[in-house]
Amino acid sequence: MVDEPSRAAAQTPPEDEHTTGRALLISVVAAIGGFLFGFDTAVINGAVDAIREEFDLSSFALGFTVAIALLGSAVGAWFAGAAADRWGRVRVMVIAAGLFAAGAIGSGLATAAWDLALWRFVGGVGVGVASVIAPAYIAEIAPAHLRGRLGSLQQLAIVTGIFVALLSDAFLARLAGGADQELWFGLPAWRWMFLTMLVPALAYGVLALQIPESPRWLVARGDDDTARQVLRQVLGSARVDTKIREIQDSLNREHRPRMSDIRGRNLGLLPIVWVGILLSVFQQFVGINVIFYYSTTLWRSVGFTEESALTITVITSVTNVVVTLVAISLIDKIGRKPLLLIGSAGMAVTLGLMAICFTQATGSGDTLSLPDPWGTIALVAANLYVVFFGVSWGPVVWVLLGEMFSNQIRAAALAVAAAAQWLANFLISTTFPALASIGLSFAYGLYTAFAVLSFVFVMRYVHETKGRELEHMDNAVGRARRAPAPATRPPGRT
Ligand code: GLC
Repeated sequence: MVDEPSRAAAQTPPEDEHTTGRALLISVVAAIGGFLFGFDTAVINGAVDAIREEFDLSSFALGFTVAIALLGSAVGAWFAGAAADRWGRVRVMVIAAGLFAAGAIGSGLATAAWDLALWRFVGGVGVGVASVIAPAYIAEIAPAHLRGRLGSLQQLAIVTGIFVALLSDAFLARLAGGADQELWFGLPAWRWMFLTMLVPALAYGVLALQIPESPRWLVARGDDDTARQVLRQVLGSARVDTKIREIQDSLNREHRPRMSDIRGRNLGLLPIVWVGILLSVFQQFVGINVIFYYSTTLWRSVGFTEESALTITVITSVTNVVVTLVAISLIDKIGRKPLLLIGSAGMAVTLGLMAICFTQATGSGDTLSLPDPWGTIALVAANLYVVFFGVSWGPVVWVLLGEMFSNQIRAAALAVAAAAQWLANFLISTTFPALASIGLSFAYGLYTAFAVLSFVFVMRYVHETKGRELEHMDNAVGRARRAPAPATRPPGRT
């Protein structure tokens, strides 16, 4: 197979180590938003039982308190696009950090269930904002041949955030002798689980103020001089003028990016925006978060005790971190589309296996049990499923959402696609208990069907973006996609 990045590199002067290091550092700071995203969604796991007790909540009220954060994320994602186009990418990161900090303090000190739900919502808005701003900013700052790797840092940060939240929950609960037991300053451990988030939230806000604004946004605002300085830091000086011209050409400068730019004839939206929305929806409809949010139930049904079930959950989340590293090493070499196809195929097989295994289950709810060898097969299949997701749809969707849209519509289109992702996440997480009561094999069967459909969707509608400059993303969709014309375009399949 021809190595595209090296072909592209042959055409453009190679960046020196300094600029690559700088791009990496800047991307790492932006990706802290992903860490908070992962942390905030997972931190509730260790606190949930203590919260139920403290506020005497029914299952419905508890489910609502957990799920409301996802709705907050949908709202945050929706508004993040317009905010990022108006105020700039960096200021929006600082706003997200403020929302995280407020969510951490408010949830940690909540005096009633409605109070807690309100602050979970606020923190959720921060998660939604971060889910839009990190991929957009990283894609806009990264040199084309590194964009997949740097963009995947977002997913690496998300899964690290999930892992650290699980560890910190377990650590605080152990220190206090239980999540509901008093720890410091008369506050029980579950409150400290939320308050801990204040540390990364403040770090994110302070560090975000140290990184430069996105050069694409600066050019869109007419500030070419600052854009030139930023590009010099991340690309080296040789290509700066050409790059500025390309960005200018890709933007109609009479017209600043607006939410309404994503409108088209197809059901009110441009077809490329639908591709973004469907990538997001499939990423959730294959059921990944069911594995994370409800894993304890799953592992208990195959014979593990509550405590060892938690250990397996931690192992699963480490697996997710490790396979994201594998994805980072592959994404700019083999490309986005092959990874998605491998992931869909692998997930279809492993989810299908789980569906078959659970036809052998006896009992239901807490008494559900899966006799061997079906239990072992299900356990292995579930972890392999996480491997297939983590190497493909997890990181690749975030990378694609950051890079697949033209400069003109990026923030707005990404906002809509990410909001759809949070709604899809909400839908899958809240319907799982009902689906599971029909039968776990039915639930996994449904996710298998979505994995199969996702394969067909990618084959038909997703185009390779590896190595292409953002200025050459043309918002076209379908088999008859036009090849972008500019002579400076690095050669590459589309
Ligand atoms: C992706 C998904 C997110 C999920 C995570 C798990 O980032 O967007 O919903 O929790 O992967 O790896």
